[in-house]
Amino acid sequence: MKILVTGGAGYIASHTNLELLNAGYDVIAIDNLSNSCMESITRVEKLTNKKISFYEADILDKDRMTKIFQEEKIDAVIHFAGLKAVGESCSIPLKYYKNNLSGTITLLEVMQEFGVKNLVFSSSATVYGEPKSVPVTEEFPLSATNPYGRTKLIIEDMLRDLYQSDSSWNIAILRYFNPIGAHESGEIGEDPNGIPNNLVPYVAKVAAGVLEQINVFGDDYDTPDGTGIRDYIHVVDLALGHIKAIDKLNQKPGLVTYNLGTGVGYSVFDIIRNYEKACNIKLPYVVTDRRPGDIPITYADPTKAFKELGWKAERGIEKMCEDSYRWQSKNPNGYRK
Ligand code: NAD
Ligand code: WQD
Repeated sequence: MKILVTGGAGYIASHTNLELLNAGYDVIAIDNLSNSCMESITRVEKLTNKKISFYEADILDKDRMTKIFQEEKIDAVIHFAGLKAVGESCSIPLKYYKNNLSGTITLLEVMQEFGVKNLVFSSSATVYGEPKSVPVTEEFPLSATNPYGRTKLIIEDMLRDLYQSDSSWNIAILRYFNPIGAHESGEIGEDPNGIPNNLVPYVAKVAAGVLEQINVFGDDYDTPDGTGIRDYIHVVDLALGHIKAIDKLNQKPGLVTYNLGTGVGYSVFDIIRNYEKACNIKLPYVVTDRRPGDIPITYADPTKAFKELGWKAERGIEKMCEDSYRWQSKNPNGYRK
């Protein structure tokens, strides 16, 4: 089976490509390299000893996409391509709407033209806005608190409308919680441009001595230690969730939606403590103001994915921190030499 992976050189895609190849799938990857490098593709090829058919292309380029669909006989698409920085989406919203929405519409149009109607979509726990309680099930009300989140919600709505209009589509909407960590080889991982926005990549840079200290965004939340609580999930567990989702599409389920999280919440201080253990370094931090738009607490109820996909996250917080630190130590400049 041939799987087209959009955003195929990115963080979650590179780990998914590796698991797809190991499971015997052929992988065609498309990426415009706006937030990634070819090196991640090369490394996955080395780790698996298999080839990826890579196209440097933009999903907004319909002619190019059409040619790729003509050249390759694609069975299903995993759609990762998108811009994902929450803060940036508030300052340049049109870029986010254009890239994420027009990109997805173009992809769906080409899929429709070629009769490829199997899709896995990268959604996010951000579509739950500020949940009224935890754990969060798939039935919770949906809302968005920033333009990035709104692109995910609009795409989800678009997919539900598309399925309503044509039930021959099979669509798995996967709502990721907070992916962190790296492949245990230390050869592939998250490689953010500039100063990281997210907690664990930032902590990794402090552990490596590149950044001075961690900024803890508020310790006055209504949580046991006052800091924000999230459901951190090992990126390899997340990647394996995509393999299960592809298996599910083969059973022609129609449109299905799953939370991919562990079901366990950790605070910012929990993360710092666990990371200190992994790197054996005392990590300096300072408590600063809350970050605007942050919610106090969220974690998943992952029961539905377990029951219907047979998927469950297996890797704990220690392993997430160890693997993150191994990747950081082996690749102080990420994929750049
Ligand atoms: P990433 O930035 O590493 O990967 C996205 C890839 O898409 C990048 O390689 C980028 O170059 C590519 N891309 C962007 N626009 C494109 C376009 N128009 N044409 C072709 N390629 C394009 O991010 P990631 O963390 O691997 O996230 C993958 C997906 O998962 C995204 O859709 C993201 O919104 C979603 N997601 C991520 C997280 C997270 O915390 N990392 C959480 C929930 C959902
Ligand atoms: C985690 C916790 C911060 C940085 C984001 C997106 C979400 C999804 C995942 C894509 C919070 C605190 C952070 C720092 C800190 N992405 N923090 N110091 O905000 O839960 O989720 O990534 O879909 O949509 O919003 O993740 O890692 O930024 O923050 O104290 O330097 O760490 O306040 O409590 P977040 P995060």
